[in-house]
Amino acid sequence: MDPPRPAPGRHFPALLPPPPPHGPGAVAELIRVKGWVFTTSGSFFSPFVCSCGAALKAPMEYVSTRGGSRAVDFEGALFSGYAPDGGLFMPRSIPSLDGATLQRWSRLAYPELVKELCSLFIAPELVPRSALNGTSGDTGSSAIESVRGQQNMDIFVLLPEGLCTQIQELQMTTVIEDNVHVFAAHGNSDQIDELIKELFADVDFSRKYNLMSLNSVNWSRIMVQIAHHFYAYFRCAPSLDTTPLPVVEIVVPTGGGGNITAGCIAQKMGLPIQLVAVVNSNDIIHRAVQHGDFSASEHVKATLASAMDIQEPCNVERILWLLSGCDSHLTKVLMEQFTASKSLKLPEALHRKLSETLRSSSASDEDIVRAMQRCWEENRCLLCPHTAVAAHYHYSQLDSCASSTPRCCLASASAAKFQDAVLRAGLVPQLPPEITALTAMETRSTALRRGEDWARVLRDRIAAAMQGWEARRGVSVPPGLQGVGGQVVTQG
Ligand SMILES: Cc1ncc(COP(=O)(O)O)c(C=O)c1O
Repeated sequence: MDPPRPAPGRHFPALLPPPPPHGPGAVAELIRVKGWVFTTSGSFFSPFVCSCGAALKAPMEYVSTRGGSRAVDFEGALFSGYAPDGGLFMPRSIPSLDGATLQRWSRLAYPELVKELCSLFIAPELVPRSALNGTSGDTGSSAIESVRGQQNMDIFVLLPEGLCTQIQELQMTTVIEDNVHVFAAHGNSDQIDELIKELFADVDFSRKYNLMSLNSVNWSRIMVQIAHHFYAYFRCAPSLDTTPLPVVEIVVPTGGGGNITAGCIAQKMGLPIQLVAVVNSNDIIHRAVQHGDFSASEHVKATLASAMDIQEPCNVERILWLLSGCDSHLTKVLMEQFTASKSLKLPEALHRKLSETLRSSSASDEDIVRAMQRCWEENRCLLCPHTAVAAHYHYSQLDSCASSTPRCCLASASAAKFQDAVLRAGLVPQLPPEITALTAMETRSTALRRGEDWARVLRDRIAAAMQGWEARRGVSVPPGLQGVGGQVVTQG
């Protein structure tokens, strides 16, 4: 039976983001760029002329947050992971929008909004022209969905064995196409991230095999998530006719810090939003915002909001770079210190900027469960545990009458994938038939066991896939597209 629809007007903030799929995994729509396929959230693209003058002036350049790599164009940032110097790509400058542009964007449907936004960051000739639908899911499954069956691209997905839910895992391991390689690593997300970083740091290797990442290490995912914030703002602002424009508080479930980085960029572009980074018990970002203490705890804690079980949120590097006035020297020094000691006391000025830019809060598993229960009781709306982290913040503000600012919680996943959390909250899981069907399907994955040389296993598989790919390319890739195939490495 379908769950009853939420009762309107019951003290709950707007739950966005946009239709259809959303969240980090919903890096949604298929974009084809020169024969490559990439997923981003949004909808279909058609040939278009950008109406925002700024976009047409000069193609945006992307620089590394650590200043030690040459600048690249959008294509260079897209088909990469970490920059060769270990930093992350960011646009050289952040476009700023005037009131008239905000007014116009407020009237756009979500797909149009994404197009307008992307055109500020992508050279016009690279703006995608094909129309294909993506699917929702978390990073790994949506990345797989975007390239499964493609003849000129292989995808390597690493998932933390036993640390995502069974449904999430099945969404990846039941895809048995030849170009999809799923690895179940006996480690956590941070350890997987380190492995991916190591592969990208080997510039010869990553160039030889044209590696790109599809998680929030990749600029393009951040870029598309910026649209979430504009869309949320336009839906929640009481009026756009006042000067200054009203502030809306946007509450972002935060793990690796991708979506909150997107919010910081939207804010810098001129969107009047107050951002709240909400985390689970892995609270390094919360401690950084509150006390300037960017130090990883000894262990990653397993929580109900497992996609946010991260102690080394890589996108904080982008935020620090942005807030330091694009100071790549400072960013490099800070991040190298963090890498070496897993501990960093933010310089006072930077901490002040961070706490002016972000509010933060953390939620325990009990808080998550209570927020899921309350949202169900009051609205008949089943939240995923990540979204419930944001709802917990909302309820705590509501109960203490702390603020009258309009508030919007970004919803990050479907509750259907988190049955354990739903049951823990004493609620009844709602399972769509396509999810139920997964449990009867054949699965395939390669285990990366503790003590094994994971990098070696991965390198060998990538090299072997490339050989197979070259064999296929000879017969199937049109001449104009030869030489543009590659490999995607992503984290589940
Ligand atoms: C369901 C879900 N919620 C939240 C997050 C947080 O991601 P980030 O902080 O990078 O935006 C993720 C990351 O993959 C996720 O899968």
